[in-house]
Amino acid sequence: MSDAIETPQTAVPVRISNKPGVRGSRGHPASMGETRTACIRTFGCQMNVHDSDRMRRMILDAGYAEVHSYEEADLVILNTCYVRENAVDRVRGHLGELNRLRREGRVKKVALTGCIGASGESADLQRRYDIDLVLGTHNTYELAEFVGLPTMRETYTPDLPGTGGEHSAFVTIMTGCNYQCSYCIVPAVRGRMVCRPLENVVEEVERLVASGTRYVTLLGQTVDAWRHDGSRFCDLLERVADVAPRVWFTTSHPSNMEDRTLRLVGEKGTIVKRLHLPVQSGSDRMLNIMHRGYKAERYRRKIGVFRDAVPDGTLSTDIIVGHPGETEEDHENTLRLVQDCAFDAAYIFKFSPRRGTEAAGLGDPVAPEVVQRRFLQVLRAVEQNAFARNQRKVSCVEEVYVRHGSTEDGKAIGETWSGHAVHVRTDARPGDYVKARIESAGPHVLYAGEPIA
Ligand code: 5AD
Ligand code: SF4
Repeated sequence: MSDAIETPQTAVPVRISNKPGVRGSRGHPASMGETRTACIRTFGCQMNVHDSDRMRRMILDAGYAEVHSYEEADLVILNTCYVRENAVDRVRGHLGELNRLRREGRVKKVALTGCIGASGESADLQRRYDIDLVLGTHNTYELAEFVGLPTMRETYTPDLPGTGGEHSAFVTIMTGCNYQCSYCIVPAVRGRMVCRPLENVVEEVERLVASGTRYVTLLGQTVDAWRHDGSRFCDLLERVADVAPRVWFTTSHPSNMEDRTLRLVGEKGTIVKRLHLPVQSGSDRMLNIMHRGYKAERYRRKIGVFRDAVPDGTLSTDIIVGHPGETEEDHENTLRLVQDCAFDAAYIFKFSPRRGTEAAGLGDPVAPEVVQRRFLQVLRAVEQNAFARNQRKVSCVEEVYVRHGSTEDGKAIGETWSGHAVHVRTDARPGDYVKARIESAGPHVLYAGEPIA
């Protein structure tokens, strides 16, 4: 799962009013009197986007109106990412801005949630900035009490679903991670793997679909490691794909990815044919130092199975450059793997030491200028592959699922069944399908013309 983005707000602006195009709260008694406002800012991965959806539900139930700027907000919730240092720097910038707004008497309360909240870093931030509430990833539910709702017992309960009724929804199937990758802070902040029971997941998906959801994304740090009562991820995916009209899952770990799951992706019409399988490095020596638990050859073999089973599919990955001890030869091996796998996209990260991880104490750092060069070399290799593969789509007619409706320029953003992002000239609504011919392609996006009747 990439956390390379500061995620834009996903939901429609919410205000307590009956103006067209805006949604009101369900009118919890706490909302009587003057309307309070809250702004949720999400940093990082889709797990955080999903946690923000849950917190959004709580603030709406408590009678807050959601606003999208700090200036308008009584309460600001920063739902944060701790995976790399630049994510923390960004949050520091926002906290500084919030301190200023508080001095001016605008923002009244600040909550820091998510992965920074679960880390030791939060104590330091609390000393430097005005923060009223710190919550980790396991006790997000405590926000309920803070905003005046009855106390909840846990975050992942069926009583607290994500935002149903929208065209797409995330469904968390597992939390935490049992791996101990050298560089990764996730196990420290999200804890060990906990899997949701199969029936519980299927019920939630059924409920979402009944309320209008057309696209379900199964979420977890290593979804393919999901297992419960003798069932494995492939069984769960099949059940969900029987119920939901469109399904995707992220993120996966190569050691858990079963061939039968890859074949199911090819066979089931409702599964988006896009696999995100982080490899991190193409060097066996580095994979060993990182404790990834597989060799480059095994990864290549998996990709071979995927390409055979899903010939029209897209493949993306995560790669870290400049992990301590990475030599020129290791880097060359990564470039070779990038060529061999012909990724359609990759999230490339410069190693960022996280306090408390093994890699932070390893020494043998790679010089910043070397990291920068390696970063650009991997990026160029990925983009060349992606561009060449996208060119093959030009002049094909594709069924496009509209994810974001058109903006002023009349272009909507959608997704093909093969998982390609497409710009398409249509005023169709999110959740609709249109058919359109691909007219051109860049390394990241396909460009389609007017929809075909
Ligand atoms: N430095 C750089 N990249 C990292 N990632 C995780 N931890 C670090 C780190 N310390 C990357 C991995 C992971 C993705 C979500 O973030 O590639 O797959
Ligand atoms: Fe982090 Fe490794 Fe777990 Fe992924 S598999 S969340 S990189 S520890």
